[in-house]
Amino acid sequence: MTTIRAKIAQRALAPGERLPSIRKLSATLEVSPSTVVEAYDRLAAEGVIRPRPGSGFYVTGSSTPFALIAAEPNLDRAIDPLWVSRQSLDIGAGAFKPGCGWLSAEWMPLDAIRRAMRSLSRCDSAVLADYGPTHGYPPLRQLLARQFAAEGLAVGADQILLTSSGTQAIDLLCRFLLQPGDTVLLDDPCYFNFQALLRAHRVKVVGVPMSATGPDLDRFVEAVKTRKPRMYITNSAIHNPTGATLSPQVAHQILVAAAEHGVTIVEDDIYADFEPDPSARLALLDGLSRVIRIGSFSKTLSAGLRCGYIVARRDWIEGLLDLLVATSFGGPNPVAAALVATVLQDGSYRKHLGDVRRRLARRRTDVAGQLAGLGIVPWLMPRGGFNLWCKLPGHRDGGAIAMAALRDNVVLAPGNVFSVSQSSPDFMRVNVTQMTDPHCFKVLARVLAEPN
Ligand SMILES: Cc1ncc(COP(=O)(O)O)c(C=O)c1O
Repeated sequence: MTTIRAKIAQRALAPGERLPSIRKLSATLEVSPSTVVEAYDRLAAEGVIRPRPGSGFYVTGSSTPFALIAAEPNLDRAIDPLWVSRQSLDIGAGAFKPGCGWLSAEWMPLDAIRRAMRSLSRCDSAVLADYGPTHGYPPLRQLLARQFAAEGLAVGADQILLTSSGTQAIDLLCRFLLQPGDTVLLDDPCYFNFQALLRAHRVKVVGVPMSATGPDLDRFVEAVKTRKPRMYITNSAIHNPTGATLSPQVAHQILVAAAEHGVTIVEDDIYADFEPDPSARLALLDGLSRVIRIGSFSKTLSAGLRCGYIVARRDWIEGLLDLLVATSFGGPNPVAAALVATVLQDGSYRKHLGDVRRRLARRRTDVAGQLAGLGIVPWLMPRGGFNLWCKLPGHRDGGAIAMAALRDNVVLAPGNVFSVSQSSPDFMRVNVTQMTDPHCFKVLARVLAEPN
């Protein structure tokens, strides 16, 4: 019954479509025909399907709204990416959130943002009232083009498309490059919303295990050869959640395999500004031939402004712009883009990054030391950023620990939320900036002391 319901929710069975015969489904699912009869009767009683005498059972006419949760019906809520994201976003102000994936307000350059807001109140009225050009606020695109050129990625401002977020950038690229049923490679573990977003695009996801220097190369090459993916999505710099950094050797091999098998790579650079100095980048090595760079200011400036970007080869921009207009009539709010440009231009952003990198380096070391007291050990010490990918002691189950901690108002991010293959049950991602209050350590100690 769950299988049929999920297929209808995912629209794999359309309204009016005939269901498999009782005999066929009982053979496929290896259950008795009477179990199938009972399930069909129940679904018919609910009005989800309808019998036609002498012909079989059919999905009823009304289309069921697409339910993301039903697209992965076997996931325990504790390790469901959608649930963990919504917990972090919606839980009340008094909660502690070491499982959330952003910096809280006191880490952001609030004075610079407020100054920029004041100066924007005097800006051109068109910025305050109009939609703005489809590519996005020109001064910000020009600024980004200069910044990328300084890194060695020579692009014109016309190759940069502003989006309302990193998430919107990836969504747009999925619309542009994928069809339902296509296969996409992800790092395993990876940022959990990649999986949720890809579910919405109804594509198959294949995970490649991560190493400290990028995806495991043998497994990557094998997956590219045998699973024929259309796309690979990764963070080369300060990988979420592991903190890994792509090495130039691995980067080269990824590009060779991707070129041989026609895979497009989406390099999500959202954490790159936390790096003390730039590491290997696929977009740079490839010159944007089959790599698309995306980024956003959610982690380093403000998550609330909602401003991101896509940098892609010139002949793909037109198609992406059409999709951007069709789906949202433009990218970020022009006022938000102008605000980002102001903070970038006046030097506040650069100074803020320097301060934040230094503070985060100290915080990572402090929190790792305190976690060690609980037997929780980082998989590696990242070169930057605020996440530690940690192994729990005694093979404890991260999902159960997260559920127990939630009762004490502590939101944790259990390992399997990030794992495509569900192979990280005894891991947890810890945001070191949100892991400061003694309450978090006390709750962790208590739930770890409980039996598994
Ligand atoms: C790797 C990665 N990409 C994208 C995002 C989403 O960022 P945005 O707020 O720009 O949609 C996140 C947020 O956690 C992330 O970790």
